[in-house]
Amino acid sequence: MSQFFDDTEAVRVEGIRAALGAETIDALDTAFRAYLKGKSSRAGELKQRIKHELDRAAAGRALDEATKALEAAFAERRAQLETAVQAASLVRDRVDLTLPGRDYRRGHLHPVTRIWRELEDVFVGLGYKVAEGPEVELDWYNFEALNFPPGHPARAMQDTLYVRLGEPEQVLLRTHTSPVQVRVMEAQQPPIYIVAPGRVFRRDTLDARHSPVFHQIEGLAVDEGITLGDLLGTIEAFVHALFGPSIASRFLPSFFPFTEPSVEFAMTCVFCEGAGCGVCSKTGWVELGGAGMVDPNVFAAVGIDAERYTGFAFGFGIDRLVQLLYGVDHVKNLWDGDVRFLRQF
Ligand code: PHE
Repeated sequence: MSQFFDDTEAVRVEGIRAALGAETIDALDTAFRAYLKGKSSRAGELKQRIKHELDRAAAGRALDEATKALEAAFAERRAQLETAVQAASLVRDRVDLTLPGRDYRRGHLHPVTRIWRELEDVFVGLGYKVAEGPEVELDWYNFEALNFPPGHPARAMQDTLYVRLGEPEQVLLRTHTSPVQVRVMEAQQPPIYIVAPGRVFRRDTLDARHSPVFHQIEGLAVDEGITLGDLLGTIEAFVHALFGPSIASRFLPSFFPFTEPSVEFAMTCVFCEGAGCGVCSKTGWVELGGAGMVDPNVFAAVGIDAERYTGFAFGFGIDRLVQLLYGVDHVKNLWDGDVRFLRQF
């Protein structure tokens, strides 16, 4: 046996060891070049020596066998290393679905919006529909059709903000939601059962309970045989729905040009339950709003037969109600837009 066969065996054994010992694909490639690839590799050198051998056929077979064994070892190791690389990348790139998500702070409805919607729900439950009107209104709807003649002192009481548009003092920011009554009655004949929540404007100076922009909800029921008793019962139903059955309602005579008779209504102070406290100025009652039977002059202005139909209307402030419900001492807190304050509700 010539030295060739020992050298071939040595290349086979060392090459397999180098292949199986390679820790990375790069190391495996380096070993592959050293043992198998090209003329200057260990196998390449042996191949060039075959022609000097006596038994070239046996030498060729031996080298061929060794080369195949080496190739198999390199292929096997390559497959192992590739599987390992893939497994490592799966671990490295794993998405942990159990990680908590990024925390978005969720907003919520403004307390006035919430109570606005609750009020709608209460009245829709009583069979009312929700109506709307514009915030920039005509004198006709805000005053004239509501039986405030030009120059009537009750107009001055409303601290109107006029808009410089059209005829002087004909376009204004509505001072109450009552103009929606007129718009609805102009558009349809009885039976009418509507509530109209919305924003209203007055030239008021800001204090704890007055803001130049605030919200009211108007109610109007017109049908055959509607009485003052229906009005009182409706107000009571609403107060009970919102505040519970232990809260009572109270009515005092009052004046509005568009209702006759007119009342002011109040409810038991929710803070002291009628005992008297700071919120209700020790009276046990808190003012809610105004109401009354629709004045026949209003029916005449909108073309509804006052001989056949009667109706009642009411209106009260939503912001005031929210202040009472949540104990908000100054109304400006509701509108400053300070999230630290609003987040509490
Ligand atoms: N619109 C009146 C106000 O703002 C309240 C009211 C509404 C009174 C309906 C009677 C009937 O003061």
